[in-house]
Amino acid sequence: MKLGFLGGGNLAASMMRGLRAQNASCDMLVHDVDPERQEILRAAYAARPAAAAALTAEAEVILLLVKPNQVSGLLTSLQGHDLSGKLLISTAAGIPLRFYSARLPGAARVRALPNTSSAALRAVTGLAAGGGVSPAQRETAAAIFSALGKVLWIEESAMNALTALSGSGPAYFYLLTELMAEAGAALGLAPATAQFLARETMIGAGRMLESGAENPAVLRERVTSPGGTTFAALRSLEADDLRAAVRRALAAAAARAAEMELEFGA
Ligand SMILES: NC(=O)c1ccc[n+]([C@@H]2O[C@H](COP(=O)([O-])OP(=O)(O)OC[C@H]3O[C@@H](n4cnc5c(N)ncnc54)[C@H](OP(=O)(O)O)[C@@H]3O)[C@@H](O)[C@H]2O)c1
Repeated sequence: MKLGFLGGGNLAASMMRGLRAQNASCDMLVHDVDPERQEILRAAYAARPAAAAALTAEAEVILLLVKPNQVSGLLTSLQGHDLSGKLLISTAAGIPLRFYSARLPGAARVRALPNTSSAALRAVTGLAAGGGVSPAQRETAAAIFSALGKVLWIEESAMNALTALSGSGPAYFYLLTELMAEAGAALGLAPATAQFLARETMIGAGRMLESGAENPAVLRERVTSPGGTTFAALRSLEADDLRAAVRRALAAAAARAAEMELEFGA
């Protein structure tokens, strides 16, 4: 399988690392506007630097891994190339599949939204297929993003909700970790101690979620004795309506994703 990476930034590097770690037998080509990035990826992952046109002609799967505001310029440079039979996968948040079908007819199209835990190869990626994606191409797309962590096929109509939950989600957990460290320091712990405790607690809770068959509500109930310290803290969070605050936050993220889709899909 020949994979062409258009954009050789953070995500491309994580994907290449994951694919090489899986010993995937794929030939990787990369094109980035910065030749130094290409050289780094060649040295680290044996990705072959290529001009955009050559990459597009040679690769069977073309991965668009540039920022959303760079996609349009990149697609313009690809116009006129025959993409029939190829699979085009874009990870640019907020750009709907119809944006690509209008500009690059012929290619089968998949929209992918990993999250930044890709750097630790622990991402969860939502995949949405456009028309004309064959079962074999679906398998290929899932296999590529499995190198970054877990994958989940969804309808494109659910992409904004997924963006709000898992796409932006790592930042919510970072914020909670920061806030817990600040609160611990306010209770008199040394700031470095509070940070260490907050971080390790978050990691440990994540591991519990990962290893247990139980859902988070069961895990929470198990560590909450009536009348105890956790009970007091959770009651305080409920009184402050954390549930509603989280709902509003995810709704704000989904609304912003919908606005971006309108901007790009018009
Ligand atoms: N990183 C993640 O885990 C993650 C998660 C979810 C979604 N995404 C999405 O995936 C895409 C890539 O993310 P990233 O973090 O890898 O971004 P990034 O680090 O900025 O990488 C993009 C690379 O593409 C280069 N580039 C720009 N225009 C180009 C062109 N016309 N031809 C070739 N290369 C070009 C950029 O160069 P310059 O820096 O010089 O512009 C940069 O090196 C973005 O749309 C992002 O929103 C990423």
